[in-house]
Amino acid sequence: MLDRDRATVRFPEGFVWGAATAAYQIEGAARDDGRGPSIWDTFSRTPGKVHAGHTGDVACDHYHRYREDVALMADLGLASYRFSVAWPRIQPDGTGPVNPRGLDFYDRLVDELLGRGIDPIVTLYHWDLPQALEDRGGWTNRETAEHFAGYATAVYGRLADRVKTWTTLNEPWCSAYLGYGNGVHAPGRQDPAAVFPAIHHLLLAHGLGAQALRAAGAGTVGITVNPAAVFPSDPESAADRQAVRLVDGLHNRIFLDPLLRGGYPADMLEHAARFTDLGFLRDGDEQIIGGPVDLLGINYYAPTYVAARPGAPGGDGAYPGTEGIEFLPPVGPLTDMGWMIEPSGLTALLERLGHDYPDVPLIVTENGAAFPDRPEGDRVPDPDRIGYLDGHLRAVHDAIARGVDLRGYLVWSLLDNFEWAEGYDKRFGIVHVDYLSQRRTPKDSARWFREVIRRNGLEG
Ligand code: FCB
Repeated sequence: MLDRDRATVRFPEGFVWGAATAAYQIEGAARDDGRGPSIWDTFSRTPGKVHAGHTGDVACDHYHRYREDVALMADLGLASYRFSVAWPRIQPDGTGPVNPRGLDFYDRLVDELLGRGIDPIVTLYHWDLPQALEDRGGWTNRETAEHFAGYATAVYGRLADRVKTWTTLNEPWCSAYLGYGNGVHAPGRQDPAAVFPAIHHLLLAHGLGAQALRAAGAGTVGITVNPAAVFPSDPESAADRQAVRLVDGLHNRIFLDPLLRGGYPADMLEHAARFTDLGFLRDGDEQIIGGPVDLLGINYYAPTYVAARPGAPGGDGAYPGTEGIEFLPPVGPLTDMGWMIEPSGLTALLERLGHDYPDVPLIVTENGAAFPDRPEGDRVPDPDRIGYLDGHLRAVHDAIARGVDLRGYLVWSLLDNFEWAEGYDKRFGIVHVDYLSQRRTPKDSARWFREVIRRNGLEG
């Protein structure tokens, strides 16, 4: 065992420190400059879908306040900033003519970042599908993947001279299982048969998008996933280990094997065939999906524990065909999301990825925690978040010490923001946002993170 106590730890030279956000969660300006509606505009207006009927209409008003926000990043000493581009700003209907005013915003943002010495990392799709494409079937329609490549090319054409790191999708697991399986996220469909074509078309979008970016000259192209660290309730139980195998397949291998090993795992094709005829899978698709990946983004928050339990309902619609598996209730301490705090899950996950998918460098593109922070005067004390981040950075360091090729760590999130179905109720930022005044206040964790970056490590 490595010493996980408060030892001083140093990160490798050149380790990338940064923060992440996503367009719909922070930008607001939902109708400015020709932006079209996205599935999240529709979903957040559907009664009962988002906490208290919150929407992203205004969010953190980052669209108008990006200069102030970039100044905050510079103050923190961030080397890089991961943001997403809103497809409906670029192509309001998802296809066809490009809206130059939408591109102008990201042009300004990138210039502002570079002017402050911050390297932009662009995510092309962080869940805000143009509504017009959902009206034609969304991710269950193969054409969405083809349109994505056109959209990617348009963004690349404008920003390529300044943006070096491109990622296609954020967390296709969420898009497919939460968007089409249990309906907790937009577009809110609840159809197990839709999940598998959605997964495939998301992966195909990645593949076609990556091909298009490379053809246009892109150097670093990757994708961000949220692999589960999934453990058996009883490691001695063969049935529990079997449950892990299925959940791991549905959460991890069904994405990572086609991306990094050239094809879908046989057990997952068999599993999907229980729900669909696999007619969406065409010759040559796996070659497209399996093209080179230069950087794999990992988002990690909490581990998952499962047990085999006859009669258990399975994964709540999010994992089709997992009846007989219990997803164990989280054990405290918990974050405000009700998620477990288990940094060693991150070490185990990174080691497993490094072992099973050895040829691709990793970067933590999201990690962080929601807590119910309360401003006290000019300060926002958030010791729980500092504890969470400290523990997870030590876990990251452990993984590096054990040989995992991990290049950087981006905290989720720079700002408190629209936390999807939870609306503004959950605060993940290291910078507090007062949504009435739009005032930003760096929390204690922001000051702490600045010190971590300055030292390139943690003190004991
Ligand atoms: C991830 C999302 C991100 C944020 C965090 C808490 O799944 O990528 O947008 O909501 O969870």
